Amino acid sequence: MKILVATDKPFAAVAVNGIKEVVENAGIELALLEKYGEKSKLLDAVKDVDGLIVRSDIIDAEVLNAAKKLKVVVRAGAGYDNIDLATATANGVCVMNTPGQNSNAVAELVFGMVVMMARNLYNGTSGTELKGKKLGIHAFGQVGRNVARIAKGFGMEVFAFDPYCPASVIEEAGVKPITDINELYSTCQYVSLHIPATDETKKSINYALLKQMPKGAMLINTARKEVINEEELVKIMDERPDFRYVSDIMPGNAPVFAEKFAGRYFFTPKKMGAQTAEANINAGIAAAKQSVGFLKEGIDKFKVNK
Ligand code: 3PG
Repeated sequence: MKILVATDKPFAAVAVNGIKEVVENAGIELALLEKYGEKSKLLDAVKDVDGLIVRSDIIDAEVLNAAKKLKVVVRAGAGYDNIDLATATANGVCVMNTPGQNSNAVAELVFGMVVMMARNLYNGTSGTELKGKKLGIHAFGQVGRNVARIAKGFGMEVFAFDPYCPASVIEEAGVKPITDINELYSTCQYVSLHIPATDETKKSINYALLKQMPKGAMLINTARKEVINEEELVKIMDERPDFRYVSDIMPGNAPVFAEKFAGRYFFTPKKMGAQTAEANINAGIAAAKQSVGFLKEGIDKFKVNK
């Protein structure tokens, strides 16, 4: 049996060593394909594998159909919008993610970007503090919960909107639950997005929501670029010189930001939220254990293509 780790954006070496140990201790061969760039290399590498561990790598129908022996794909991370679940199901392939394993890393990057922007990108001018400010968490999953924990350390007042999460869970975390999305955006100067990219959420962060944000608004996106209505984000930033946007995902219209909104936005050059040694180890080793568990014992906890 063989498991392939295919990561265009590689894990830290220490995580790769951990994955190798888990897989080889189970008597399974491990293959590694990093920074492959071209899809043809991925298509070639998946031909004879039983298991596949990936990150944001695009696992579409072409890849799945090229992997004739494939039984399991584990996305080392949370979001699985990069995997064609319908084709995986049709091919009898189990798809799993590793929820929670990289969420602290993403939450820490939220504050890395927020503090930098609140201090005017460290340009020498007077910025503002986070203490006493209102933060709205849009979706109270694993990352949202870590963001809440850290925000409280900064002394922020924290609110959360999540129709899929019971209010009691939000309250137990010391966060104020909000049931109307408009109230979240009209109340909070800072809003941090933690929604997955689904048909329901794509382009859902739009002008109607953003225009309600109080003065000095800052939108923080460590989720997916697809959830933003990019044209409407530009419209609000055109209209409101106080509006700022920080994102771990370069928008499709990044040149417009460079041309018009200097000093009011920041984008990581490459998605960096989960790119820490700790998150790589946690998610990578969880993915290795889940792959082995499925191949050896049929354990499909965290299966997402039910
Ligand atoms: C996730 O969905 O887990 C994060 O977006 C991290 O993605 P990455 O593994 O591509 O960094």
